[in-house]
Order: sequence, then C-alpha cells, then structure tokens
Amino acid sequence: MIAPPAVQIPAGLPTPDADACVHGARVQAMLLDRIRDAGGWLSFEAWMQAALYEPGLGYYSAGSIKFHRDGDFTTAPEISPLFGQSLAPQIAQILQASHSNTVLEFGAGSGALAAALIPALQALGHQVDYQILELSADLRARQQTRLAPWGSQVQWLDQTPANFNGCVLANEVLDAMPATLFCWDESGTPHVLGVTANTQVDNTPDIPFAWALRPASADTADLIAARMPALPGYQSEINLQAEAWVRDLGHWLQCGAALLIDYGFPQAEFYHPQRIQGTLMCHFRHHAHDQALILAGLQDITTHVDFTAMADAALDGGLDVLGYATQARFLMNTGLMNLIHAPGEQTAERAQQLTALNTLLSEAEMGELFKVLAIGRDIDGPLLGFTRGDRRDSL
Ligand SMILES: C[S@@+](CC[C@H](N)C(=O)[O-])C[C@H]1O[C@@H](n2cnc3c(N)ncnc32)[C@H](O)[C@@H]1O
Repeated sequence: MIAPPAVQIPAGLPTPDADACVHGARVQAMLLDRIRDAGGWLSFEAWMQAALYEPGLGYYSAGSIKFHRDGDFTTAPEISPLFGQSLAPQIAQILQASHSNTVLEFGAGSGALAAALIPALQALGHQVDYQILELSADLRARQQTRLAPWGSQVQWLDQTPANFNGCVLANEVLDAMPATLFCWDESGTPHVLGVTANTQVDNTPDIPFAWALRPASADTADLIAARMPALPGYQSEINLQAEAWVRDLGHWLQCGAALLIDYGFPQAEFYHPQRIQGTLMCHFRHHAHDQALILAGLQDITTHVDFTAMADAALDGGLDVLGYATQARFLMNTGLMNLIHAPGEQTAERAQQLTALNTLLSEAEMGELFKVLAIGRDIDGPLLGFTRGDRRDSL
C-alpha cells in the first residue's frame, strides 16, 4: 500500500493578511462540512471545485484580486493588449468563415482580453457581439465595470447557448477546471487522491486537511491505464471535467471554431515517466508551489492541460481539430511582430512592448509551454495561426 503525500508549508511563502485569514477560516469550515457530509473522504476533484468556485467563498468566487501585480498570477491578456490584438486577425478569419460577428469568451478574468480584442476586431471591420460566460459572480461584476464603455455590445450569458455560430475563446480556463488526482501503487493498481480532516495535528498543526487514497473505480482505472503505463509511486491527473466541457462544445457549436489557449502538453509528454509528481500547481502572491491543501480559498489551484485528451474529446463531440501550435508560433503567424512600434517611435511604449513580446514568445516564459488548440465545425481552409508550426501530428 502506498502512503498518501504529506501536507507541507513551502518555505518562503508570504503570510496572508488578517482579512484573508478570516476568509480562509470560513472556507476551511465549509470544506470540513463537505468532507463530513461525504462520509469523511472527499475526492480531490470535489475539493478543488469547492475551494475555487463555492459561491461567495471559493478562490474565484470571492472578492480578492487575483490577476497581475497585486494578485497571485499574471496571464497573457494581463501582460499586454498585444496578446488580444494579435489574436484578432485569427478571430476575424473565423468570424468571416462562420458568417457571424459573435465572439463568446469563457472565464474572462478581469476583462483584459475583451478590452483589447473589441477595438482590434473593430479596426478589422468586425463590430462584434461579445459574449462572456463567467462562473464567478465577483469576476462578472468586475468585467461589467471594465467593459462598460462598450455598452450593450458586451453581454453576459448564464449558460452555454443552444446553438452558436462564431468564435469561442478560453484562455487559461481548462487548467482551472477541477481534476482527478491519481497515483499508482507498487502492485500496479491506480488510486485516486481525496481529502480528509487532519487528525494528526502534530505534523501540520495549522492545516485541517490531509490526503487519503482510495483504489480508483473500474471506469477511472481503465481511463488512466489507457493513457499511461503503471509506474509505481507516479502521481498525476486526469481532467474529466475539461474533457466533458470540450465534448459538450460539439453539441452547441454549429459553425465556427474555439481557440483553447493554455499551458500543457500532448499526452506522451504529459505522462512522461520523469514527470513523477504530475502537474498540480498553486499560486499565491506570485509564489508557485504544489501544496493544494493549504491556503484553501486564498490561492489558485491548477493542473496543466493534456491536449491529446482535449483533441480526442473534440473528435468525440463531432468537431474537427483545426490546429495545434505553441503560443509563440501561433502569435508569430497571426502577425504579433507587425504590432511592435518601429525603433525610435514612441520609445517608452516600444520598451514596454518589447518586454511583453519577450514574455509572450520566449521559450523560457510562455512561448513554448503555452499552446493553442483550435477545434471547430464547418470551417474551410487552414487557419492563419497554424500556417507554420502546426503540431497536430504530436497529439
Ligand atoms: C486562470 S483564470 C483566467 C482568466 C482569463 N481568461 C485570463 O486569461 O486572464 C480562470 C478563469 O476561468 C473561469 N472558469 C473556470 N471554469 C469555467 C467554466 N466552466 N466556465 C466559465 N468560466 C470558467 C474562472 O472563473 C476564471 O475566470
């Protein structure tokens, strides 16, 4: 029998302020209730769902600042409007091919991507209807304030539309969907990780939660075994919610394409034998670590995306896989370099642009780890963003 991982407090992690501690205690109480209601063991997927999205309490659903300098992490739209501006030609092509002017963004965060895209698409002749579907009431309110200048051109949906023609966007949304954690024991049996109340207070006195393992159900075990060989002690994730979300796109996306942008790998790389602890990651005040059971409700929890699983889910949903490339290659193909001021022109702004360019494109930053997967239906011809460096054959 394999031992569950220990909960540890990473060295150098900042201490939450007094208000955050009060909020954190309420989140812990809610999670302990959930564990008790579930009979003493809650799957990590259910834990992550509540820790991130419980209305009024979860990390994304409560009122803290999450994005950029004063928050916990920085996404590409927060780095620079260049990101949205360079997506615009690709979105324009999809809108043209689908005879639509509608863009639907999932999980729009602070609204930064929409704020860059709407004017950029307008400049390309698309007076778009911009729709947003956001789980978090707090983020929705922030988006409504930020995007007020565009009035009724921006609308918020409460559920996915029954039928949709146009372009769907999801930047760093799949990684925020709750995942199933698993590990293999010595005898080649997969176990799933869940959360219990911590009764061994001597180890982690401030953390009321502990990991506990259960043998995976036959269905989950089959899914895991189909993706990787049994490697004793190896821990990783499988994101069934994200796969279901992508498969479901096939029910309502009639004509158009979805651009799914996130950090991740093809399956062979995702379950690489050396990635022995998987990809679970948390962010608190720009510190990244792998301790998901601490700072409940105060920190972001994510896993990388298995893009092969996403492409398979799209095919299962009756969609085509239209392209797969690194973020760097995609943004170069859509013309990011053309947006940079010439030397000598608007010098301070150009310096900011060059810093952003480095973060968006560099292999050491977002350029290689982040990928763009395009899936869709009834779209003719190659998509602009994948004209060079399309890596669909790696999926
Ligand atoms: C890491 S943030 C990214 C925000 C933004 N897209 C950006 O790039 O700055 C994840 C976002 O996804 C949202 N989200 C997660 N699952 C979702 C779902 N099933 N439908 C809509 N939004 C979702 C969260 O509420 C949050 O706004």
